[in-house]
Amino acid sequence: MMFKVEYLWILMMAASLALEANGGATKYTAMYVFGDSLSDAGNNKYFIGSLAKADYLPYGIDFSGGPTGRISNGKILVDFIAEMVGLPLLPSYADVIAKGESILFGVNYASAGAGILRDTGYRFGRIIPFEEQINNLRKTVDQLRGQLHGNEVSKYLANALVFVDIGANDYLNNYFEAEYYPSSHIYNLEQFADLLINLYRKHILEIQGLGLRKFLIVEASPIGCAPIRSHNMKCNTTLNHAVAMFNTRLKSVVHDLNSNYPGSAFTYAPSFQVLKILFDNAEAYGFKVKDVACCGGREGSNGTKPRCFKNTVPCPNRNEYLFWDGAHPTEAANRILAALLHNTTSL
Ligand SMILES: *[C@@H]1O[C@H](CO)[C@@H](O)[C@H](O)[C@H]1NC(C)=O
Ligand SMILES: *[C@@H]1O[C@H](CO)[C@@H](O)[C@H](O)[C@H]1NC(C)=O
Ligand SMILES: *[C@@H]1O[C@H](CO)[C@@H](O)[C@H](O)[C@H]1NC(C)=O
Repeated sequence: MMFKVEYLWILMMAASLALEANGGATKYTAMYVFGDSLSDAGNNKYFIGSLAKADYLPYGIDFSGGPTGRISNGKILVDFIAEMVGLPLLPSYADVIAKGESILFGVNYASAGAGILRDTGYRFGRIIPFEEQINNLRKTVDQLRGQLHGNEVSKYLANALVFVDIGANDYLNNYFEAEYYPSSHIYNLEQFADLLINLYRKHILEIQGLGLRKFLIVEASPIGCAPIRSHNMKCNTTLNHAVAMFNTRLKSVVHDLNSNYPGSAFTYAPSFQVLKILFDNAEAYGFKVKDVACCGGREGSNGTKPRCFKNTVPCPNRNEYLFWDGAHPTEAANRILAALLHNTTSL
């Protein structure tokens, strides 16, 4: 035990020195990621029969080491954010369990298909809803307590960054699938956004209650602009308006949390705006194709083929596509999104 404590301590020191050498980029000891397919780095891959996983080629075709479960050709947004704040790529929680990967710099709990509501995405098979992602964080915190002294754990957690990007699936794979989910029969869009935001706030405070103090709260993305939903180079405004209602509330929740919890810092990341800017000005950012996926999501553009299927030959010029599959950005788009978010927040 003593060895472990010292070992971890030395690693933390080494890390902070390395980061200082790196231009003092980091303020964070670690990063904990909560979210859906935009952030999943492999949590669903051990679920047999799950439709919401991407552990096969050509997913990961441009990722060193190949497919990991990331739903892109290469790196995803959280990978670039981690890099920007001076942290390494984070292991998925599933790999921490299965392969004993290090939790030192943080863990990714995100699960493709997941939403704020427990039922969201159930049609994909087994996924990990927000609530259960937080239960997994609890297990990580227990593990840290077994490795560090109480005081050190508190300091360590207080200086870690919590990244949360969830909510889009509550629309895409719940509210707007009226044939499978009752939500739109029970709630109008205002009521539904209120329902989501109340639960979201509660969950953020649960994470905060575990000792985390620094949050990056990411807006739900403009799902109406994804190839499975856009039409004639235009985003589906019905979907985007619905998500925007949620985001308006999210912004005021962040404001409210900052006033009510002065010891914590909640940063709002306007990724809806930023992705919309990227979509509307795709050419200026070097993208030639914004309405068609590089792999899959082509035919119909009506939601029948959001995925890129196993061994499909993807487009060769992946850096020129905004979207990798019917609903997820390419690595090239993720890199620019991260840079734009970094520029608009005080990360
Ligand atoms: C936009 O999406 C909504 C919800 O899925 C759908 O009902 C509507 O037909 C779509 N509109 C267009 C123009 O595709
Ligand atoms: C979606 O598009 C495909 C291919 O064009 C078509 O076969 C299918 O019937 C469409 N589905 C819906 C729900 O409109
Ligand atoms: C972010 O800001 C820097 C410095 O102002 C600028 O050089 C860079 O182009 C910006 N990045 C993007 C993607 O706009």
